[in-house]
Amino acid sequence: MSTDPHKSDGQVADADRVVIFDTTLRDGEQCPGATMTFEEKLEVAECLDQMGVDIIEAGFPIASEGDFEAVSAIAKQVKNATVAGLARAIFADIDRAGEAVKHAKRGRIHTFVSTSPIHLAHQMRKTEAEVLEIITATVARARNLVEDVEWSAMDATRTGIDYLCQCVDAAIKAGATTINLPDTVGYATPDEYAAMFRIVREQVPNSDKVRFSTHCHNDLGLAVANSLAALGAGARQIECTINGIGERAGNAALEEIVMAIKTRRDRLPYDTGIDATMLSRASRLVSAVTNFPVQYNKAIVGRNAFAHESGIHQDGILKYQQTYEIMTPESVGVGKTSLVMGKHSGRNAFRSKLKELGYELGENAFEDAFVRFKGLADRKKHVYDEDIEALVDEGIAHMHDRMKVVSLTVIAGNMGPQSATLTLDIEGVQHTVQSTGNGPVDATFNAIKLLVPHEAKLDLYQVHAVTEGTDAQAEVSVRLEEGGRMVTGRGADTDTMVASARAYVSALNKLMVKRQKTARVQQQAL
Ligand code: KIV
Ligand code: ZN
Repeated sequence: MSTDPHKSDGQVADADRVVIFDTTLRDGEQCPGATMTFEEKLEVAECLDQMGVDIIEAGFPIASEGDFEAVSAIAKQVKNATVAGLARAIFADIDRAGEAVKHAKRGRIHTFVSTSPIHLAHQMRKTEAEVLEIITATVARARNLVEDVEWSAMDATRTGIDYLCQCVDAAIKAGATTINLPDTVGYATPDEYAAMFRIVREQVPNSDKVRFSTHCHNDLGLAVANSLAALGAGARQIECTINGIGERAGNAALEEIVMAIKTRRDRLPYDTGIDATMLSRASRLVSAVTNFPVQYNKAIVGRNAFAHESGIHQDGILKYQQTYEIMTPESVGVGKTSLVMGKHSGRNAFRSKLKELGYELGENAFEDAFVRFKGLADRKKHVYDEDIEALVDEGIAHMHDRMKVVSLTVIAGNMGPQSATLTLDIEGVQHTVQSTGNGPVDATFNAIKLLVPHEAKLDLYQVHAVTEGTDAQAEVSVRLEEGGRMVTGRGADTDTMVASARAYVSALNKLMVKRQKTARVQQQAL
């Protein structure tokens, strides 16, 4: 691997090439409720690789056996991107990350330590001198395992600049090839963030031999603005996530970074290697597997991002698209909304519609989606693109679930008590139960609880219609909380009760994954 900071890991790149480091599978997955299974992580990694992401941070290998397995499998699978594994400044973490990425074409260890006085005093309980020694020892350890080592100064933006320069100096001397200065708590403003890069690059010897990286959180809604500001001060790697998912208010959104650079080349004269027409597809995939809805007015990938409601805007767009559109929906992979097909549409028409919507399904997933499409077309007169997307996303989200809803019959109405008869497939065996409740949703959820006893608390129950009309599909989101662990599930169906049951069961499936993962992290806490 090239350690030249101006080379994009094997690809030829000039000084204005911005390296995109995606951390959806690590920082993104860390956000409450966004747990992904092993298979889902592999699918997201494949999409990121196809889209042209330069570096995929695949996970935190020491965190759990599952994380280690996922990072190793992604390292073996990915064809173009560098695969990074995260490690605290602890030898065991670094060795585990090295082991996980060792089969990658290009593997990176990303190690970090806190540098701010507040973290040193209250979390690490270490002196500045001790942390400097830790940086030297741990970066050198990582560099013995791989050539490509990224070092991050956690909470850099609340670190005194002189001490930050000493830390960066120690990391470069010990062999780091990328220096990341995160705004861990989303506190910086754009001018301040840029100034930090400028000063560090000016003051630290050999800073021209490494690549500088941004990593911004969105607590004040400034993550993208801060990341872009740092480019003007010499940063050439941006860490970001699809849909901006991540801890608390999230990370800088990849799609916003990429489209800002593409659309405003006059002000941001840089290049990324991203195929922007895949942004919409990546957004939908991440939303489907995390069960994390994308807000309607989200820039670039929100449902309303290219919708024009006001008469004046619609009139302008019809006369000349650029009157109210600074980029086209097609440029981010959004096709025109159209009436799709009815119950007479065949396999070929369905296959080409999926292609047009940006889905590439394997044979089994295609057959499953086709059967469900036929079922939907029988129940719903008009099937729109949004219906197909909800149906396919639902299939992707539940493909690897250990528990599935087989059937549900609900008796509702004002003559109570309402009751639900539910059959679940739990690891290949069908179980049926009947329950009553205070309304049909309560009866349905009580039935699930009888079959899968658990203590988790229902934190959120939300329903929205995928399209217009009384025969529209309902998309239901359910969030469960258990001992501080949060998981989200989603389900779609023309029957709101069936969608609700699917969403609840999907959240329980995620909870199982999360239970395994957090048990290991707690054992290994600092
Ligand atoms: O926000 C942060 O500081 C991080 C580091 C681990 C890079 O996620
Ligand atoms: Zn972070």
